[in-house]
Amino acid sequence: MKLLALETSCDETAFAVLEDGEKVCANLVASQEELHRRFGGIVPELASRKHMELILPLAQQTLKEAQVRLDEIEAVAVTNGPGLIGSLVIGVSFAKALSYARGIPLLAVDHINAHFLAAFLEEEKPSFPLVALVVSGGHTALFYVKDYLEFYLLGQTRDDAAGEAFDKVAKLLGLGYPGGRIISRLAEEGDPERIPLPRPLLNKDVFDFSFSGLKTAVVNFVNDLRRKGLPVPVHDLCASFEKAVVEVLVTKTLNALKFTGGKNLVVAGGVAANKRLRQTLREEAAKGGFRLFLPRPAYCTDNAAMVGVCGYHKWRRRAFADLELDVYARSHFPRYQG
Ligand code: KG4
Ligand code: ZN
Repeated sequence: MKLLALETSCDETAFAVLEDGEKVCANLVASQEELHRRFGGIVPELASRKHMELILPLAQQTLKEAQVRLDEIEAVAVTNGPGLIGSLVIGVSFAKALSYARGIPLLAVDHINAHFLAAFLEEEKPSFPLVALVVSGGHTALFYVKDYLEFYLLGQTRDDAAGEAFDKVAKLLGLGYPGGRIISRLAEEGDPERIPLPRPLLNKDVFDFSFSGLKTAVVNFVNDLRRKGLPVPVHDLCASFEKAVVEVLVTKTLNALKFTGGKNLVVAGGVAANKRLRQTLREEAAKGGFRLFLPRPAYCTDNAAMVGVCGYHKWRRRAFADLELDVYARSHFPRYQG
């Protein structure tokens, strides 16, 4: 079964062709990083226009690379939320048109659901139930996952997402956009113990996160030095900040595994591409107690292959969307009840 998947929820236009929900025949991502860089963040109106421009040529290029004809495609899967409304509308309209014109099922995919299902693109597949940490630019959340499409929220961020904190700190330091990758590269040459920073909500018996306090601590530290005319130790600051974020993410995740009795952990989303986070998680997994499933970095950051996995499982359940399909800015997941 061949499926075309697309993703336009944020600033990446992405297409993939999947066979039987796991074999990736092609996976293309057109990033808009260049376009948004000079604004230090995503400009929604520009993102929508860029999606419009890229969507058709990228679809054609993806089919070509997959060596698949359009009439071989049996279903189309698309992210319809959460994300930027204008951007989502472009992708969803495209998918509706394709579904209508070809008479193939339309599959609506939740972006966060898709993020953790990226783990099923790898050779070694997780088994259910599992705990999933989705950590990206827009989201930081822990889930108890019973099945591909059945999952419950354990906790999420009360303010900034982890990736957002990376991006804001990078902006403050004038390092560029998006910040995660840049900070993590500079952190490699820094001392993570040099600058004491808070670990918000770390000792609380909750699975919610908060990163805005940590970001403010960095802001205050930098402003204090600037006021005194002292240089900012950028490498050490990046390393200390990164370590604080990773410690919070890992501690909460380990608590969630213990709390739910989980034996399988999936970590996904853009921040899951972070080296320190991956390394720390691997060390924890090596101590025993749980199996770790980390999608490769290209499947952690936004892509359409992960949308394809989710779409495929909807297709198997005949959970088709119709042409009335709407988009949404935020997800509302059911809470974990034990
Ligand atoms: O999943 P994603 O591509 O898009 C959203 O759904 O948000 O995640 C993007 C986020 C950005 O905030 C970016 O700074 C962060 O992921 N990111 C990283 C790394 N690579 C991307 N954060 C830390 N370390 C990285 N290596
Ligand atoms: Zn994402």
